[in-house]
Amino acid sequence: MTLRVNGTRLHADFMALSEIGATGDGGVHRPALSEAHLEARKWFRERVAEARLEFRMDGAGNHSAFLACGPADAPTLLLGSHLDSVRHGGRFDGPLGVLAALEILRVVQEAGIRLPVHLEAIDFTDEEGALLGELGSAALVGALTAEALREPRGGRAALETGLNRAGLTEAGVLTACRDPATLVGYLELHIEQGSRLIDAQADIGVVTSIAGICSYRLAFIGQAAHAGTTSMTDRRDAALGASAFALAAREVVLRDFPDCVANVGEMCFAPGSFNVVPAQVTLALEFRAPESELFQQLERALLEQAQAEADRFGLGLEADLLGQIDPTPMSASAQRACIEAADALGLKHVSLPSGAGHDAQMLARVCPAGMIFVPSVRGFSHSPREFSRWVDCVNGANVLLQAALRMAPEGD
Ligand code: GLV
Ligand code: MN
Ligand code: MN
Repeated sequence: MTLRVNGTRLHADFMALSEIGATGDGGVHRPALSEAHLEARKWFRERVAEARLEFRMDGAGNHSAFLACGPADAPTLLLGSHLDSVRHGGRFDGPLGVLAALEILRVVQEAGIRLPVHLEAIDFTDEEGALLGELGSAALVGALTAEALREPRGGRAALETGLNRAGLTEAGVLTACRDPATLVGYLELHIEQGSRLIDAQADIGVVTSIAGICSYRLAFIGQAAHAGTTSMTDRRDAALGASAFALAAREVVLRDFPDCVANVGEMCFAPGSFNVVPAQVTLALEFRAPESELFQQLERALLEQAQAEADRFGLGLEADLLGQIDPTPMSASAQRACIEAADALGLKHVSLPSGAGHDAQMLARVCPAGMIFVPSVRGFSHSPREFSRWVDCVNGANVLLQAALRMAPEGD
């Protein structure tokens, strides 16, 4: 008989976890290392103890349940996702993958199955980027540098406060790196966060690649002046350059980069008052592309556009690169395992790229990595409206289980 997850137990876990940091509108607010996030992690740790699994935590705060179900010197297959959320986000993005991973360890343990690998269910620190983005997974694969920690995209103060609150240190974070020889692969179950699976009437998405993500802070620099006495032609108004850039970025992407996206997610005005012409506007720019060449072309085009808008309004421009994760293909062996698992369960699957970032991007640097998507109703995500039907979530967890059982130690 094909091994299955316990959907009722998984649902009970999901509902209990959704209460932590609940915003009352169906969503949760659990930015990385906030009080609510730490409470969610405490809850996870209790579930690990309850299941009599081994609990592990590394210097980056990554939390794991570990099941030694392989030979003593066997490598580990990682399964997981993240328990942090974006600000006022949804309940499914991250938790589904962590809880499904935990459930798989419980099922394998209860069935008393021996595998050629050990299993680990991991909750990565700061996937969503309130602090830095994919911090825990970057640390685990050795891709995190002291320099990146000095200028995190969420700001130094947020990083320091979060690490202190969690009892972590910057030096400790950099010790979380693992020997790749100990890892046989990484699999992650996640909601699709778009509507392609619903449109295709598919049960399962097998991820082919994950888009590259780049973040910049751009400062348009003008001159403060009296808003009542300075003529409209004499102003060096930083707001104009920043606003014109936000509009132009959209045009550039629509015209020349149809498979890419760009987002201006924040603008800070200085000095910021009714009666002073803005001296400086600092904006948060993020853009994404499905493959490397396009990624570089898009970066060039957006920075040139920013410079052109600064010139148009007589402004200075400073561009600060805050983070870059390259477009990442998922491993052929992991995709194969997911496809075979979906076929074995009689589930309709399609292969598709991910526009959202995931820790699998980091893991792919050191071991075969793969992702399984389940449908998102109406495609909403990073919002309290995020929703996936429970039957789809259980299907996804069963595909994760079956794919895990198929991941061979030799990898690609
Ligand atoms: C993470 O969810 C991201 O894609 O920003
Ligand atoms: Mn996620
Ligand atoms: Mn997310």
